[in-house]
Amino acid sequence: MCGIIGYIGNEQAQPILLEGLKQLEYRGYDSAGIATLIKGSVSVRKEKGKIAALEKLLDKKPLKGTIGLGHTRWATHGIPNQSNAHPHVDCHGDIAVVHNGIVENYEELKEKLMQEGHRFNSATDTEVIAHLIEKFYKDDLEAAVRAAIREIKGSFALGVISAKYPDTIIGIRYASPLVIGLGKGENFIASDITAVLKHTKDIIFLEDNEMVIMNKDSVKITTIGGRPVQRDAVKINWDISQAQKSGYPHFMLKEIAEQPTVVESILNHRVSQGKESVYFEELKIQEDVLSKIENINIVACGTAYHAGLCGKYILEELVKIPVAVDVSSEFRYRNPILGKNALTISISQSGETADTLASMREAKRLGATILSIVNVLGSTVTRESDGIIYTHAGPEIGVASTKAYTAQLCILYLFAIYMGMLKGAVSQQKVKELLSQMQQLPQIIAKLLADQKVILKVSKEQHNKKCFLYLGRNINFPNALEGALKLKEISYIHAEGYASGEMKHGPIALIDKDMPVVCIATASSVYDKMTSNIQEIKSRSGIVISIATEGDERIKHHSDYVIYIPPVNELFSPIPVAVCLQLIAYYIAVKNNRDVDQPRNLAKSVTVE
Ligand code: M6R
Repeated sequence: MCGIIGYIGNEQAQPILLEGLKQLEYRGYDSAGIATLIKGSVSVRKEKGKIAALEKLLDKKPLKGTIGLGHTRWATHGIPNQSNAHPHVDCHGDIAVVHNGIVENYEELKEKLMQEGHRFNSATDTEVIAHLIEKFYKDDLEAAVRAAIREIKGSFALGVISAKYPDTIIGIRYASPLVIGLGKGENFIASDITAVLKHTKDIIFLEDNEMVIMNKDSVKITTIGGRPVQRDAVKINWDISQAQKSGYPHFMLKEIAEQPTVVESILNHRVSQGKESVYFEELKIQEDVLSKIENINIVACGTAYHAGLCGKYILEELVKIPVAVDVSSEFRYRNPILGKNALTISISQSGETADTLASMREAKRLGATILSIVNVLGSTVTRESDGIIYTHAGPEIGVASTKAYTAQLCILYLFAIYMGMLKGAVSQQKVKELLSQMQQLPQIIAKLLADQKVILKVSKEQHNKKCFLYLGRNINFPNALEGALKLKEISYIHAEGYASGEMKHGPIALIDKDMPVVCIATASSVYDKMTSNIQEIKSRSGIVISIATEGDERIKHHSDYVIYIPPVNELFSPIPVAVCLQLIAYYIAVKNNRDVDQPRNLAKSVTVE
């Protein structure tokens, strides 16, 4: 949560910081601010609301200077208002600080600092950091920052500038992400690479407990304790256009439309030409370790959790070993029992989700091997795993996860095939058959995307309903949960996902003429059961929106709307079904004039508990 950017170079900092903040806005968007240094003093502009509000303020009162910090906030301590927006400054306004994370002991620190005469202007935890640096400053900014950090408990990424150091930015990483962007005659710090991609593709990922002291021509990395750190830059192959809307009205729609390409590129990179094997070059866990795995548990949050739930069906089908799935925040606080030779799979788009990281650490403590399925390169999850499989879906900016979900599913299929081969649970012929079927997925998704008539009709006629129900069975049950999550998070319409078989155990009481029910009824081993449920809904006057397989004319008799997907093996049907569900949610949210990419109260990466 919260986005940080820092710039030092020869250009004016304000436009660069603003541009960077726009890329980071998905991380939090309740207030924003920037600080620059000019003629030996710090100037700050901040505003409640989105970056656009800050931009308006800066139009009226621009900031000069070639060094500065920017911040976009997701409030933790202190309501979203102008005084709680970052950057925060010390008593003399000489030191400016931006912060992502939480200072857990800020109350006691604040009390002590106030007794010592420091004056506070906000209700945030962050402001104590500026005052601590002021307190410890004795002609050495670096030393003062180190001393201040020693006092703080919690998780943080920080950017610091000081009027007395007009050519220095200090960045610190402790359990919240921070990257360094290396330019020519200019350098950057940022919460993630998308904020600096326009300027450089040479990135250094700071590790926890490290700090960077940079000027425009040099970058020095040390541990917080002061030990020098040698770290090479990584060349990032993401393109800035991937982090821009490119003509689409919303990132979410662009990211939905990218799915055929994402799936195709995963298959091209991971599947051999002859479709007889699967590669994970960055996996790192030895085959003999994997072949001895006797049980798998998956930890994840939100949409990634739904991918994990689907992963259970996939892995149990193809690897034939038990798979348990937990929401990360539950796993970390129960006393999980992991059997012998356990593999924990963590799934995360951002690789920064606090609960997922904590549950991975817990699984590690219990002796499991940790494999992570992650999208963001160099994220914290990747550093704490025994092995990684990158989804390589490119930057996902819309808060609602779409292409990351289908990419996670694709990786789960491929990993299950790989594990199934290692454990002798799938034959070579079956592998070939499955991998050939997967090759059809990009065209299947593209076909769906090309004809959205029924989905548009559904959104036009049903967008004003108060509540939606989503039903699915078997491998599409997780999709029922995902469809409901997508709808509620971007349209603010209450939606529930259920296993269809559970309908009679409660939710059927909700059904009446005002209740749309999205029924996943694609061709499958449970199709007849699903159509029975549909008839039960229809006979209670519910509005049935069926997702079915092309050629299924019968379903029309019991449905108000039928969204068809091309024929596909039941095992792979969650991918095209997910795309339909994403589009339903998207168009309903648009019809309701919602802020699709930045829905209220949410942030893209949840780096606090
Ligand atoms: O970055 P992660 O995949 O770990 O994030 C997990 C959830 O926070 C995320 O999927 C969230 O539920 C999305 N807003 C769903 O669209």
